[in-house]
Amino acid sequence: MKKIKVMSVFGTRPEAIKMAPLVKNLAARPEFESICCLTGQHRQMLDSVLEIFRLKGDYDLNIMKDRQTLSSITSSTILGMDGVIQAAKPDLILVHGDTSTTFAGALSAFYHQIPVGHVEAGLRTWDRYSPFPEEMNRTLVGDIAELHFAPTRANADNLEREAIRGDIFITGNTVIDAMATTVRPDFVFTDPALNALDFTGKRVVAVTCHRRENYGKPMQQIMEAIRQMVLTHPDVEVVYPVHLSPVVRECAFGILGGVERVHLIDPIDVEQMHNLMARCYLVMTDSGGLQEEAPALGKPVLVLRRETERPEAVRAGTVKLAGVEKEEILRLANSLLEDPAAYAAMAHAVNPYGDGHACDRIAQGILWHFGLSGERPADFGA
Ligand code: UD1
Ligand code: UDP
Repeated sequence: MKKIKVMSVFGTRPEAIKMAPLVKNLAARPEFESICCLTGQHRQMLDSVLEIFRLKGDYDLNIMKDRQTLSSITSSTILGMDGVIQAAKPDLILVHGDTSTTFAGALSAFYHQIPVGHVEAGLRTWDRYSPFPEEMNRTLVGDIAELHFAPTRANADNLEREAIRGDIFITGNTVIDAMATTVRPDFVFTDPALNALDFTGKRVVAVTCHRRENYGKPMQQIMEAIRQMVLTHPDVEVVYPVHLSPVVRECAFGILGGVERVHLIDPIDVEQMHNLMARCYLVMTDSGGLQEEAPALGKPVLVLRRETERPEAVRAGTVKLAGVEKEEILRLANSLLEDPAAYAAMAHAVNPYGDGHACDRIAQGILWHFGLSGERPADFGA
């Protein structure tokens, strides 16, 4: 039997974390040949994920530049993918989520008339500039893709409302599959700053922040709020692995550098990040992935954005949209630090984003699409 050759294309940290379990799941099945094309949109942060999941790229476009622009990422990827697609001749190209790698990878596949499967499809804010450029990237890939792997029923409903062409599967998010291998009660941190933390005597707040639409004033306001929060709560320790983007680093170190009980550290590998979240008191972030992971670990999340394409955990009560104004962020943080009832109301584990079997459903969906299985995978949450 001829195997289905699936080429997964990814290039940033979150895509790699969420594609790693799928690439491995497909590789373990006799019906598939599973290969990877890395764009290298991120370098160090991508390589860190590959190391943890023991993955390697069959192709690597290595496109990252310092302070890269959206046009540079998109054009380098499209040009680089030409040769890769001609050499690899995949039957299906998988892309993930909403980055510039995702969009350019899908467009390249389309130019070569290779079908595209979109993992983590159908999330929407309906605001074209927030998140920017991710909302538009994800929407455009929805038009290109033939297979849509929507994490939740609400995501699938969005695609149906847009009359998207192709097969829609409700799979859960592959990040929940990834967490089954990363989160361990006996985990020992390798980062000395994390090992030195007192998770029982202190309240550890895990922070990340990197979104392009937060560059400038919003990011300054966020950092100011965190500074104020830590200075007014002597038992709070902030751990903030700072994204490698120079724009972010200038802002974070400029406002939070040298502030007592604020630990600004380099990005940590995904195992350390997941276990940090599992042990912390509260998460403050503008990240997409953290909004999915923290609720599964029972940790309240304040989202440092004006809107979110992930409303499920907001509805479940574990995530609050804090916005990007200093006073409102502080008000919500103070409430979680000072009012035990407010904290208890948010700190419960919910898994609206998956049950750990998203990769199996995606593999089954591909087999069904290619006529190799008579059985469509059952929807997540059905
Ligand atoms: C990208 C994605 C965003 C995703 C985020 C995850 C786009 C447009 N944005 O944003 O959707 O949420 O990744 O983190 O696709 N850098 C390094 N080393 C690294 C990674 C980044 O030095 O390993 C620096 C480089 O100077 C680079 C800059 O960070 O130019 C920005 O990286 P880029 O991928 O353009 O944007 P992100 O903010 O990371
Ligand atoms: N993450 C990590 N190390 C860090 C910060 C985040 O491994 O220092 C992980 C995090 O657990 C999540 C993913 O990176 O799985 C989120 O990536 P990011 O916030 O960069 O992107 P987004 O999800 O917003 O697209």
